Amino acid sequence: MSQPAVVPFELTPAISRSLRPSPTLYLNERVNQMWADGETVYHLGFGESRFPVHPKIQAALRANVHQKSYLAGQGLAELRGAAADFYSRHMDATITPAQVIIGPGSKSIIYATQMALDADLILPTPSWVSYAPQADLLGKPVYHVPSSSDDFYDLDMEALDATVRRSQGRNKMLLITSPNNPTGLMLRPDFLRELADYCRAQGIVVVSDEIYALVPHAHAEHVSISRYYPEGTVVLGGLSKHLSLGGWRVGVGIVPAHEAAARLMMALRVVAGEIWSTPTGPVQYAAITAFSGDPEIEAYIAECRDLHEIRTQYIWRELTAQGYRIKQPDGAFYMLPILNGQRDALARLGVSTSTELAAYLLDNYQIAALPGTAFSAPEAELCLRLASSYLDMETDAKADEILAAYRSGVDADTLMRDHHPATNAALARFGDFMAALG
Ligand SMILES: Cc1ncc(COP(=O)(O)O)c(C=O)c1O
Repeated sequence: MSQPAVVPFELTPAISRSLRPSPTLYLNERVNQMWADGETVYHLGFGESRFPVHPKIQAALRANVHQKSYLAGQGLAELRGAAADFYSRHMDATITPAQVIIGPGSKSIIYATQMALDADLILPTPSWVSYAPQADLLGKPVYHVPSSSDDFYDLDMEALDATVRRSQGRNKMLLITSPNNPTGLMLRPDFLRELADYCRAQGIVVVSDEIYALVPHAHAEHVSISRYYPEGTVVLGGLSKHLSLGGWRVGVGIVPAHEAAARLMMALRVVAGEIWSTPTGPVQYAAITAFSGDPEIEAYIAECRDLHEIRTQYIWRELTAQGYRIKQPDGAFYMLPILNGQRDALARLGVSTSTELAAYLLDNYQIAALPGTAFSAPEAELCLRLASSYLDMETDAKADEILAAYRSGVDADTLMRDHHPATNAALARFGDFMAALG
């Protein structure tokens, strides 16, 4: 019998391009191998908020396990109402349920928005790992706004304008993230006002990823660009970060309150309807409690925010004292050390790219961190994204222990000194590395 013909599972060009080896692949494989071999790894590459699920939200999920029906593509009406009220309060805005869509994580809504809008993507550098790959999957042109390590990669208006002029498309969308992943920095009100004026004048849609909005640090208030550009901004939020519910997949999209934006909402509903139908039913019912404004849950959000701040600022302070160049984070649980100043010493170790830098730290100091390249930074920029969220909270029991210590009233220094052995061990490694660089 002749051989059956080989069935050609031929991939689309867009997907084929996206299958290129990821710079984080080596890191993940190495970390998993080291763990399998019983080795210690100080994992600062893993950006996941790991506090326990609040008991009232757990109870709400349990009470709704029987909810089995398909729900509306835009999300459960009662949940959209609760989310509209929640964000109206927290953003000091008036948001109606009609402006809100609930998706399986905000990532899906960002993708749907990119799919729906016929616009080139204008992307600050560095920026979160998924925005550009999503655009690539959609065949959407991406224009990166160049930035300089001298200014800690701040978004610069002149560079933005030059990028907008370079873009060929009739329409443009600008994707901003504040607080930012990978830098932990926030865009300040003055800058947002200027950016809003610019985008209004140019007719640019702003997609504002504010998934970390409820994790600001005390010295920096979070302000949404939608305050200054309500008619042109799509805001993204959700439960993944401030309530540590990433795996529950509850994302929120908020579109402006006018007719053109209502058409965008219709488009998002079409994408939702044709791809995910609706986020998981019981989770949506439970999420109503998460957005309810219940004083105990609001207090818990504040507590988690404070602990993220204490842990993140401690690492920033200690690394800065060791000689690392890092701009003080304003929120979330990230920071971006820049080692361009150590370029010569690193070159002597065979390190000339951020990918090599991440690999070197893992191989020689057991420190896992993501290279700047994962965030679309040029290879030669020797920067690393550190996440403070994982160390010493690797298990639920450890997270409970840190929460209990914090609730017992210990001061921040004692909390960090006595309850964060892995964080302190990782910092000692960083100190050794800086000493070795000279
Ligand atoms: C900047 C940023 N946006 C969006 C997301 C995705 O969040 P979600 O869980 O809502 O999809 C993340 C998660 O890591 C993120 O860091």
